Amino acid sequence: MRIFNLGIIGYGGFGKFLHNAWRSLDNVRVVAIADKNATALQAMEGEKTFADWRDLLLEKEIDAIAIVTEPSTHEEIAIACLEAGKHVLIEKPLAISLSDAEKIMQIRDRTGAVAAIDFIMRFNPLLQAIQGFTQQGIFGKLRRVDVENYAQDEQLPPEHWFWHPERSGGILIEHAVHFIDLVHFFAPAKILKVNGLKHNRNPRQEDQIMANVLYEGGLMATHYHSFARPGFFETTQIKLAYDLADIELQGWIPLAGTLKALVNPQTKKALMDNPFFELTDSTPIENASDESRPKGWGISDNADTSSRRSLRSGGALYEVNEIVTGKFQLKRSKQEVYADSVRSSLLDVLKKIENPEHQLAATLETGLESLKIAVGATESARSTNQGIERIGII
Ligand SMILES: NC(=O)c1ccc[n+]([C@@H]2O[C@H](COP(=O)([O-])OP(=O)(O)OC[C@H]3O[C@@H](n4cnc5c(N)ncnc54)[C@H](O)[C@@H]3O)[C@@H](O)[C@H]2O)c1
Repeated sequence: MRIFNLGIIGYGGFGKFLHNAWRSLDNVRVVAIADKNATALQAMEGEKTFADWRDLLLEKEIDAIAIVTEPSTHEEIAIACLEAGKHVLIEKPLAISLSDAEKIMQIRDRTGAVAAIDFIMRFNPLLQAIQGFTQQGIFGKLRRVDVENYAQDEQLPPEHWFWHPERSGGILIEHAVHFIDLVHFFAPAKILKVNGLKHNRNPRQEDQIMANVLYEGGLMATHYHSFARPGFFETTQIKLAYDLADIELQGWIPLAGTLKALVNPQTKKALMDNPFFELTDSTPIENASDESRPKGWGISDNADTSSRRSLRSGGALYEVNEIVTGKFQLKRSKQEVYADSVRSSLLDVLKKIENPEHQLAATLETGLESLKIAVGATESARSTNQGIERIGII
């Protein structure tokens, strides 16, 4: 791969993290950085700096630009970069409205430049493994995704752009799009219905919000996000329920998870071949206890499971002979996996610049798809609580 010259627009928390992670890439040189905040640009080591991002676009040597400013600015900056003949890696969310996102895509199509969104979860090896299992149908159909995400708000004072809907779009648009996209990465399907609920701690701070999504084929996803508690309670759980398995992933950069699954020799082999999986227990299905109905519950007393080799789940018939439990573990730190993911995300854009046949992992279309749900659920959450009014509670 040839050497690419890169510009970064927006050099706050995440812009700096990207720059530091990209330093180890041999074929990438960050040559220019723009930020409206002069103090963000202190102590540079040879990179050109600009207070106005428009001046950075005039740098002929720049091949591609990372846009790492607050969400409401993505549309204007991305369009100007594309018009200036630069390729772009746009931070999530793609934009804060669907019309803004569509405008960026139109300009991408007209200019023919490469444009991607920085959905880093698509580059996490554990999530890639689970995507592979899901796509191959190892665990049958994915029926339910439940994201429970408690983030700290100690570093987000009330005046931060994060709390301004007109600057961030709100929690679902600014933040949840990562997790919404993860569902689309695992099991893309047509969106049928979206709704939401939210809570404001005060008129300016919407600090808890959730989205429910129904997809064609029956997959239902729920995304709960709160930015309300001290960092000690910062946790993320992603639960995936398949016809034949339950998976629970931990962390917003998932490094580990647990599995309980019904398998047959082929699907067990696929699982055992995965380098991140460790088997804890395996029981032939005829010896496994099913305590869903207690003894004395009529018909269940008569159920004979001793020769059970096939069973129904979600209305489909599956051949299985064992029930297994186990753990997924990346055995690497969050810092390493996060930094590696942002390196892979950038390299994916550079591959596409070199080879137009290369399929981008995180296209702007994926950015738009997750934004549709985030926008729809946010609008639903912010509308008057008709359901509650109707049953006379308020
Ligand atoms: N992919 C990820 O994992 C991930 C993680 C964190 C943040 N992000 C995204 O990165 C973006 C930035 O987030 P952050 O946490 O770094 O925010 P931040 O506030 O720390 O940094 C944003 C920077 O952009 C600068 N800026 C804003 N508007 C500008 C303009 N018009 N011209 C020039 N500079 C401008 C600000 O001065 C600031 O330094 C957001 O879209 C956020 O959602 C992505």
